[in-house]
Amino acid sequence: MRLALDLAARGRRRVFPNPMAGCVLVKDGRLIATGWHRAYGRPHAEAEALKLAGRRARGAAAYVSLEPCVTFPGKKTPSCAQALADAGVARVLYATQDPNPSVAGRGQKLMRSRGIGVVSGVLGREGRALNADFLERMRRPASLKPRVILKMALSLDGRAASLSGESRWITSPASRRLVGRWRAESDAVLVGIGTVLEDDPSLTARGMGRNPVRVVLDSRLKIPRRAKVLNGEAPTWILSARRGRAPGAEVIAVAAGRGGRVDLEEALTELGRRRIRSVLVEGGPQVWAAFLKGGLADEVRVFFAPKLLGGACRMKQALSLKDMRPQRVGADFLFQGSIAAATTRTHR
Ligand SMILES: NC(=O)c1ccc[n+]([C@@H]2O[C@H](COP(=O)([O-])OP(=O)(O)OC[C@H]3O[C@@H](n4cnc5c(N)ncnc54)[C@H](OP(=O)(O)O)[C@@H]3O)[C@@H](O)[C@H]2O)c1
Repeated sequence: MRLALDLAARGRRRVFPNPMAGCVLVKDGRLIATGWHRAYGRPHAEAEALKLAGRRARGAAAYVSLEPCVTFPGKKTPSCAQALADAGVARVLYATQDPNPSVAGRGQKLMRSRGIGVVSGVLGREGRALNADFLERMRRPASLKPRVILKMALSLDGRAASLSGESRWITSPASRRLVGRWRAESDAVLVGIGTVLEDDPSLTARGMGRNPVRVVLDSRLKIPRRAKVLNGEAPTWILSARRGRAPGAEVIAVAAGRGGRVDLEEALTELGRRRIRSVLVEGGPQVWAAFLKGGLADEVRVFFAPKLLGGACRMKQALSLKDMRPQRVGADFLFQGSIAAATTRTHR
């Protein structure tokens, strides 16, 4: 079991929002195959080990870090409890029960009904420690909505993009690294389809930790096939008022609100149901406005970059400011500075 737990840990940072899982198949005192859940969307640990073992799995014992799963509506991967039984595995020992209410105890029941000897709680404490984050999330009531944090990056004159729509990069590399950390700390990061079409962001944690789930509001499902959020680096959920498919993402149909757009209350309810605890809403302006108007934001984090975008058509035409002196004046913040570079500016 210790080996199964060590193998499971190899999926750290890659399997979110799934739990880490490892599987070791032993027969006649010899190890015959191992497997682990390598990344979100990839096969489960049991499936990997069973594939390697082939017919040798018959009569073997399986050590698994987490109760083998069963199918339930909306689940994409096949049932591992079923697969172990079909392969003729004789005994299954696991560390922790799957707390997912759709699975809890059902894997064990299915395997017992197929004549498998099942032992639970083997190195249970270590198993719970390994997946502490997942277990905590799953204990969270599905009725709770996530905490919403609006993140904005603005020029000092309050622009989110140049006239041509560019917003890369308003802020400095240090600020972008900090955003990477915020993404790693969030369960999900959300943008509107306008931002995907204009900026094509990948919305990963930029190497600062595990990648969050990427959420795109796209009522009419117009996301381009080559969008970077569909690159498989992290799970992507498209919340849409339409039913449909987008390779590389899960399309989740959400009720339409005003103007046929995704209803934000419904969207947050759906994310809560999926045990998302926090969402970093990164824009763009229409999406920020909709969250604020609906009274749905809990916190804001606003970067002000020392530049003026005014009527600049391109980001490189922004005016840089130097010798900035930020100051508090009563309830306000005053930013004083001199204009560093007056580049020629073309207006559109
Ligand atoms: N500086 C920054 O921090 C920052 C961050 C992000 C983006 N940006 C910039 O912002 C610009 C894009 O922003 P944007 O305002 O045009 O687009 P956006 O806010 O990214 O996306 C707006 C679109 O989202 C869809 N949507 C679905 N449900 C919605 C709802 N309930 N409320 C609002 N929108 C909903 C709508 O399209 P459908 O009706 O088709 O679904 C809507 O047109 C780009 O220039 C980008 O560079 C800047």
